[in-house]
Order: sequence, then C-alpha cells, then structure tokens
Amino acid sequence: MDNTIVLKLTSLLYTLSLLLFLSFKPIASSSRHRQWNGGRKLSFGDNGDLVTNLPSQPHVDFQHYAGYVMVNETNGRALFYWFYEAMTNPQEKPLVLWLNGGPGCSSVGYGATQEIGPFLVDSDGQGLKFNNFSWNREANMLFLESPVGVGFSYSNTTSDYEQLGDDLTANDAYSFLHNWFLKFPSYRTRTFYIAGESYAGKYVPELAELILDRNNEPSLHINLKGILLGNPETSDAEDWIGLVDYAWSHAVISDETHKTIRRSCDFNSSDPWTNEDCTKGVDEVLKQYKEIDIYSLYTSVCFASTASSNDQSMQRRSLRMMPRIMGGYDPCLDGYAKAYYNRPDVQKALHASDGHNLKNWTICNNKIFDDWADSMPSVIPIYKKLITAKLRIWVYSGDTDGRVPVLSTRYSLSTLSLPVTKPWSPWYHENQVSGWYEEYEGLTFATFRGAGHAVPCFKPSNSLAFFSSFLRGESPPSKK
Ligand SMILES: *[C@@H]1O[C@H](CO)[C@@H](O)[C@H](O)[C@H]1NC(C)=O
Ligand SMILES: *[C@@H]1O[C@H](CO)[C@@H](O)[C@H](O)[C@H]1NC(C)=O
Ligand SMILES: *[C@@H]1O[C@H](CO)[C@@H](O)[C@H](O)[C@H]1NC(C)=O
Ligand SMILES: *[C@@H]1O[C@H](CO)[C@@H](O)[C@H](O)[C@H]1NC(C)=O
Ligand SMILES: *[C@@H]1O[C@H](CO)[C@@H](O)[C@H](O)[C@H]1NC(C)=O
Repeated sequence: MDNTIVLKLTSLLYTLSLLLFLSFKPIASSSRHRQWNGGRKLSFGDNGDLVTNLPSQPHVDFQHYAGYVMVNETNGRALFYWFYEAMTNPQEKPLVLWLNGGPGCSSVGYGATQEIGPFLVDSDGQGLKFNNFSWNREANMLFLESPVGVGFSYSNTTSDYEQLGDDLTANDAYSFLHNWFLKFPSYRTRTFYIAGESYAGKYVPELAELILDRNNEPSLHINLKGILLGNPETSDAEDWIGLVDYAWSHAVISDETHKTIRRSCDFNSSDPWTNEDCTKGVDEVLKQYKEIDIYSLYTSVCFASTASSNDQSMQRRSLRMMPRIMGGYDPCLDGYAKAYYNRPDVQKALHASDGHNLKNWTICNNKIFDDWADSMPSVIPIYKKLITAKLRIWVYSGDTDGRVPVLSTRYSLSTLSLPVTKPWSPWYHENQVSGWYEEYEGLTFATFRGAGHAVPCFKPSNSLAFFSSFLRGESPPSKK
C-alpha cells in the first residue's frame, strides 16, 4: 500500500480510536468503582477463570487464570488471556503484560509455552513441563492473544478481521486491560510493565503511548512504569538495511548481492520493489535464508510433519512484516503446541471452549499476517515521547537472529541520537559474558550472545536474570 494512504488511514483510525475512548471512558470508570469497592480480595478463585485441572500440568504452588475478556460488546470481540500469579508474594510484585508479534502470532503459543511461562510444551508432544526460569519468579505474568483472530481470541463480527492493524490492536488491548482489572481489582494500581518481542516491537510502544495519553484522565490511570523489547521491529527502513547487512556480515550472501542491494534499494521509499535490481538482490537474500532458520542462524530446522513446515513466510511481500517464528533448540515446538491447545480437555480447562464446540487454535494466523491493514512505519517518534515521559525503556537483542538482527536494532536506535551515559561493556551471567550493553539517557540496549530471535528459548537462565535487573531498574550484572 502506498505510504501516504497508510499515513492517512493511520490518522483516520487514530481519530476514530480517540472517539472510541471518549465513549469507552464512562463505562470503564463507573464499573471499575463498582468492582473496586466490592472485590478487595487477593484471591480470584471465584471469578470463574481459575484454572484447576489443566491436563498434564506439573504441580505448582501459585494460582493461574485463563479465559476471555470482552473488549467490544457491539461487535462481540473477546480477547483470550492466560495469567500466572508470581510464584511467591504476588501481592508485592509488579504486573507484566507480554505480547508476541506476527502480526497474527499467539502469546500463549510462543511467550507462555515456549519462552517465559511456567509451563512449557513438552518436546514429546504430550503435555507440559515446568520451566524453572519462568518470569513469574519475578512478576505476575499476563499473556494476551491479540488482536482478535489470534489463537483463541475472536470476534462475532467477521468484518472486524478485515480491519486489523496496529491501531485496532492497541485500542482493543487497552480496553482489555481495563476490563481485566475488573476481574482482578487488586492489580488495578499495581506497578505495570509491557514486554514483547518481534512485531510486538510496534505493539508495545503503541500501547504504552495510548496508556500515557489516557492517563490524563485520573479514573483511567494505569501505573505504567516501563517497557521491555526483544528483537523488536522498530523502524522499517533501518530494519531492512540491518537485515541485509547482517546477512552479508554473517556469510549468508555474497559481496556482489550485498553491493547490489546497497546500491539499488531505497528502503525509505513507499515501494522499494519497483527497482528491479533491488528486488533481485533481496530475493537472493530470501533464497539463502529459505535453507536455514532465519530466526536462529546456527540451529537446525524442523522436518517433522506436525510442524508448519509448509511455512509460506519467505516472500518479499510478506517479509515486509513479521512472519511466524520458529522454535528455539527444538524447532518442532510449534507443532507440539498446536496439538496440545486443540485438545478438548485442554480447551475446557483453560475456559477457551466448552470442550465440545472446539476452537481451532493455530500458533500464527497467516491470514491476519497477509491482510494487516495498518502498520506504523517507525515507532521511533513514540520512543521519543516515552523517553520524555521517563518510562524505563530496555531493548535487548539475541545476536544470532537474522530476521530482526542486532544491526537493525542498532541502526534504528541510533536515529534517536541519545547521549551515552554508560559505554559499551559486557554483562555477565554465571561467570560468562552473556552479551554486551550500553546505557543511554532514557534507554538501555543489551545483546544476548548466541541467542536467536526468541531469546528466552535459547538463554532461559540469562533471560530471567536480565528481566530481574530490568524490574529492579539496575544495570545488567556487569561483574563476573
Ligand atoms: C466496537 O467496535 C466497532 C468497530 O471497530 C466500533 O465502531 C465501535 O465504536 C466499538 N464500540 C465501542 C463501545 O467501543
Ligand atoms: C459470540 O456469539 C456467541 C453465540 O451467540 C455468544 O455465546 C458469545 O458470547 C459471543 N461473544 C462475544 C464476545 O460477544
Ligand atoms: C531453578 O531456578 C532457581 C532460581 O533461578 C535456581 O536458584 C535453581 O538453582 C534452579 N534449579 C535448577 C534445577 O536449575
Ligand atoms: C529514512 O528517512 C529518515 C527520515 O528522513 C532518515 O532519518 C533515515 O536515516 C532514513 N533511513 C534510511 C535507511 O535511509
Ligand atoms: C483451522 O484453521 C486452519 C488455518 O486457519 C485451517 O487451515 C483449517 O482448515 C482449520 N480447521 C478447521 C477444522 O476448521
């Protein structure tokens, strides 16, 4: 789509969304007060969403909840969440919302059960195993399948699926939060962070901005303190150049291909593909990446028939945004997750269906990906706003990812021209260099040495330690 049209659409949607919130506000504040006075309990076992008999769940001492939250009654839109209270002292720990990207991919299928949740899908494809490095050691973790059409989330109005884009996603996620607080009132004023990876590099700042804007109205105030982003899509032009330079510097493409692309591609233009040399060069990059896992250059690809090895992702057009991601060490995890979440007993236990009229769960909805209607070309202007608002902003990057490589992130962040407050230096975990980090006025950037796109899959223990530093607002461990 032409950039100017996208821009116009974006501002139109933005105006619409403002109107939406004006009408949303009174409902939210009045019903919040109703709940606020009534439900002061710390246990929510009576809100109907407590998960009590999840098949093959390891025994744990914390509570977890799953189910739907209505985000738009008129159209019948409901978003599915899974919430794990912190392993210890949940009432003293912050609340963290985790989002995966795509667009169209599930935070339950990736974040919760392959990366940072307490129950990971087991590689025998039969059930779940306990994750000793779950982030709910440090925080109350909320995973949201967003927008409608992703995972179990749905709309009763099919035309909604044709309007999906960044704006609708942010607006529905915002409504979700307020309505979720009605179910969990003791979290209403809790210290709150938003975290995510990949295309959520767009979602997270966009949602943060919306929260800040709406926070001007005291009854809508959400105690947002910061954001945490992993291998995030940030600024399309810089992300593209980073992808190409990374492929060249990691011996995936030739000098000639790299030169051709550098000479002929204008990634800032609304349609770089009108230049034939550019198109040919980028096709060559994609051809090479088809042979390996672009999300993790040095690990194997999945050949099992259960996984979506019919991956249609490697096309130039669709690469304009984030296709599905592959697993970490076990590249077949996507297939195991699909098998597990389509079990009738699992859907019933998670309150996703009654166990008879099943939902069709897929880890990524490719149609959403293909039809995505509006995408902000760069969220750098939002970063500026969030920095001014003094939010804590940490960006990390697994340095073996070829899809949103460390170079893309460095090129994107460098356009902010932030003054350095602490120069580039290693950070450590278990006596080893876990990566490097640099602190800027208003932003911390860190790498994970030897990790692919979904960093916690590759470095679970390091990631938990890093997350813990983020929450404490302390630099990553800079001594052995
Ligand atoms: C519900 O969604 C529709 C379509 O996105 C929108 O026009 C309408 O204003 C929304 N209703 C409310 C109450 O937010
Ligand atoms: C969608 O429609 C079904 C069937 O009428 C209804 O049970 C369900 O509550 C609706 N969902 C939403 C979010 O409105
Ligand atoms: C589990 O994690 C905790 C906290 O990170 C750590 O202290 C413990 O040693 C880990 N246990 C195993 C078996 O890895
Ligand atoms: C794209 O355009 C912006 C704004 O003019 C500029 O700051 C940036 O450097 C450009 N990026 C590339 C990769 O050309
Ligand atoms: C489930 O969804 C997938 C992908 O959208 C589709 O190919 C498949 O036919 C659907 N299965 C059923 C039983 O509806």
